[in-house]
Amino acid sequence: MLPPFLTDLSPSDLWAAIMHKMGILTNALLALTAATASLTTALTTPSPYVGPENGTLVVVGGGILSDSIYQRVIDLAGGPSAPLVVIPTADGAESYDDDAAGAGTFRRLGATDVTVLHTYDRSVANTEAFVAPLLRAKGVWFGGGRQWRLVDAYAGTLTEAAFWDVLEARGGGVIGGSSAGASIQGSFLARGDTASNQILVGDHTVGFGFMRDTAIDQHVLVRNRMFDMFDILKVRPELFGFGCDENTAFVVARNDAEVMGATYCVIYDGGFWSREGSDMKNLPNPSSVFFLLREGDRYDLGARKVVE
Ligand SMILES: *[C@@H]1O[C@H](CO)[C@@H](O)[C@H](O)[C@H]1NC(C)=O
Repeated sequence: MLPPFLTDLSPSDLWAAIMHKMGILTNALLALTAATASLTTALTTPSPYVGPENGTLVVVGGGILSDSIYQRVIDLAGGPSAPLVVIPTADGAESYDDDAAGAGTFRRLGATDVTVLHTYDRSVANTEAFVAPLLRAKGVWFGGGRQWRLVDAYAGTLTEAAFWDVLEARGGGVIGGSSAGASIQGSFLARGDTASNQILVGDHTVGFGFMRDTAIDQHVLVRNRMFDMFDILKVRPELFGFGCDENTAFVVARNDAEVMGATYCVIYDGGFWSREGSDMKNLPNPSSVFFLLREGDRYDLGARKVVE
């Protein structure tokens, strides 16, 4: 069956009409392709940095934290009077008091402007009233628990946008977090499964992405999680994997990652490094290699190399 606009035409006119319609269709497809290409370019134009351009991240591997880590967050926020917002939501409790998720420790260390901010309700997280404390904050701290709860409550809401502003706008602030609060900072959400924290690639796989193209694990040495990251890297080999042990942190600005704290952070970049000489070792297959860094060590996230 021909469409009505073609039925009265001679064969040659019919052919011309078909070619005309195809021309329009082709042009439309070309325009659509071009639009898609420019959108894709805009979305994928790589930032020159893995970490934030203006602010700083403190990515802590869980456990009981030394005051020095909380103190670093206060310092990076601009000192004791800098407004801090503490997000306890990952914990999954019914409600939280004013000292939840490290807020009490920040105050004990002299911070004078600390707000605990929490909801499990995305529609609340999407209101101006809820985000108000974030609009003046210089620091955000995410407590531990399950990282998917942070996604369910805040991903895609005004609150997540406000987290980004604390980090990158107004001269750059600090975002820190421990355990779940570390993993949420990756673009890939490690251990994001709602049923079990032993599933590395679960039913939630997208984090807030303050560190681009990364997956971040925690409690790594204490819980012998060293090999777990490969569950992610096997299916997402383009990601940069890292983790920290308890009470140990990466402090990340632009492409600089510095380790602080009690034990070690772990780098999964496909390579290996040892302070004894990186090429003096008999290593396993490159697909299962990692190495450790300790306090004071620095790693260049752009070059993917330890800064010697
Ligand atoms: C960093 O700050 C500058 C100056 O305020 C701003 O133009 C830029 O957009 C910020 N970067 C990001 C990633 O937001």
